[in-house]
Formats: sequence, C-alpha cells, structure tokens
Amino acid sequence: MILLTVRTVPAPYLARFFLVVAALAGVLGCAQNGQSALHPAGPGAERIADLWWLMLAAASAVFLLVVFSLYRALTHRGRRSEPQGRRDEPVATKWVLAGGVALPTIILTPLLIFTLHTLARLAPPKSGSALEVTVTGRQWWWDVQYAGAGSRLRTANEIHIPVGRPVRIQLRSEDVIHSFWVPALQGKLDLVPGQVNTTWLQANRAGIYRGECAEYCGLQHTRMQFRVVALPASEFSYWLTAQQRAAVPAADSSTRAGQAVFMSSGCALCHAIRGTPARGSGGPDLTHFASRQTIAAGTLPNTKGHLAGWIANPQAIKPGNLMPRIPLEPEQLRTLLVYLGSLR
Ligand code: CUA
Repeated sequence: MILLTVRTVPAPYLARFFLVVAALAGVLGCAQNGQSALHPAGPGAERIADLWWLMLAAASAVFLLVVFSLYRALTHRGRRSEPQGRRDEPVATKWVLAGGVALPTIILTPLLIFTLHTLARLAPPKSGSALEVTVTGRQWWWDVQYAGAGSRLRTANEIHIPVGRPVRIQLRSEDVIHSFWVPALQGKLDLVPGQVNTTWLQANRAGIYRGECAEYCGLQHTRMQFRVVALPASEFSYWLTAQQRAAVPAADSSTRAGQAVFMSSGCALCHAIRGTPARGSGGPDLTHFASRQTIAAGTLPNTKGHLAGWIANPQAIKPGNLMPRIPLEPEQLRTLLVYLGSLR
C-alpha cells in the first residue's frame, strides 16, 4: 500500500512532505515558553518526557528501517533475469513473519512495559500526604480552593504551590468537560461534571508555569488559561497566611465609594469578597484580586487600564462569558478600580 502510494506520488511532493514533517518535529523540540512538555520542571512531566523521547527514538528507528526497505525495494526491482513465481513465496512469507509479527513484538513489548511502568509512577500521592487543592472548571475560568483546617481560601486562575512538595489536585466541573494541563509539570486530566478526578503537581524549582484548558469547552476555550506559581516553602506559607485573611477594609473615601459601587451595582451577586457582604459564587472570588497577575483567566494582564476595559465591556474582550456589561458613570468606574486595586 505504502509502496503503491510512493510510486504514484511525484518525488517533489514527497520531498516537501518529509520537509514539513521534519520542520514540525523541530518546532515541537524547540518550544520553550514555560509551557513545554519537553522542558519538564517537575517529576510528573519528567516521567512523561522520558517516555516521549523513548517513543520518538523507537518510532524514528522504525521509520528509517521502513524508508531503507522501501529504497531497496524500489532500486532492486526488475534486475532479476529469471521470471518471478512460486520460488519467491517462501521469501515473501519470511518477510511478512519477520516484519509483520516478530519485529513489532520485539519493539512494542518493551514500549508497553515502560508505558505501564510510567503510568504507575504517575499515580497521585495518597490523601493526607500532600497539600490538597480543589480546582473547579467553569466556562471559562478556574475556581481554586485550598483545603485544610478552617481554610476558606478561594482564588481563581492561579495555583500557588510550594517547591519540591507534591500537591494533590481534585478536579471538578460545574458545566462541561474541561481538561487541566500544565505541560511543564504534569500530563493532562479531564474535569468531568458529576465526577472527581485526582491529579498532582510538583515543581523542582521556583517559577511560573503556564496551564491551559486542553479540551474544547465552548466559545472561549482558548481563553481558559491559568498559572501555577511555585514558591520556596517559606514564601509559600507567607502567601497562604496572607490569602487566608479577609479582604483589606476600605481605608479612604475613594475606596469606600468604590466598595459601595461594587455592592450596589450587581457585582456582589456573582463575586465574593471575604469580610464584606459580597457572597456571590457564580464568578471568581475577589478577596485578594489585586494580588493576581491576570484577569479573565489569563486573557489580560491585571492592570488598571485593562481592568477598566474589562469592566466597561467584558463581552467585547471575551464574547459569551457570563459577566454582563454594567453601565457605570465614569466616577463610579474610577472608584471601583481604586477599590479593586486595594484588594491585595
Ligand atoms: Cu475549558 Cu476548554
């Protein structure tokens, strides 16, 4: 079949095809933006990358073998003087048995064993032995809750973890199927409505690792990003303590005015701010909103200008998301920005 195809496809097209394949392999190998599974930064992704490289080596060897056999078949054809016939049948049978049965068994058996071994080593740590975080997928953002004695810590689109310690992640979904993927730290796992799936993250070194929703989940699937911020142990416990506190009380007149706008304009119906009457749960918890790096699940950097644009018309930036456009006077928007900016 392959032989027939190769014979009927003109050589220049074939050469271009192989060039594209080689270029794609190069791009895959060079991807280096803190989001590459081939530059692992934690034990989970390291185990997956090891398997990936082994698979690539085996597949490349098989590919070269096939190309070499093809070359031999094409260049040696028709040289024989005697007519072909029954005498070739035992040779053909040997080729089929060697190339179709023996060779795949020899190549695939070790790969299967290594794959099963890798899968076993990717099992999540036991409950109680690691820090526990629940991540709930929503269209289109990530609700992040830290478990623990009396913990009410809830944030969005950012998961802080301590370096060198496994973190157990329970994955849930409120609406459709999403997929949780931090390429540099761990393989992907689906968030399925009505079900809890468990994965884990561990980072070898401090840094920011980008994560994505890896399952098409509607209009804004591509704008459903998150970040994993790996901190040294002491910085992590400082962060945890700070985030468990209620929101900073409004200190001056602008902040107080902004808080009043937040409570009276409908924001509080969907967003919670601990320490205030705002208890909505449809949208992200904003208790420490100003400490986050992005807004709208990685869509925009968390700056005053971007936030103003987002509040003024969230549907223009992320069409289809659940945040409605709320008409505000310029002065109301100004004080609201001051208030949100104070929520460190
Ligand atoms: Cu959530 Cu794609």
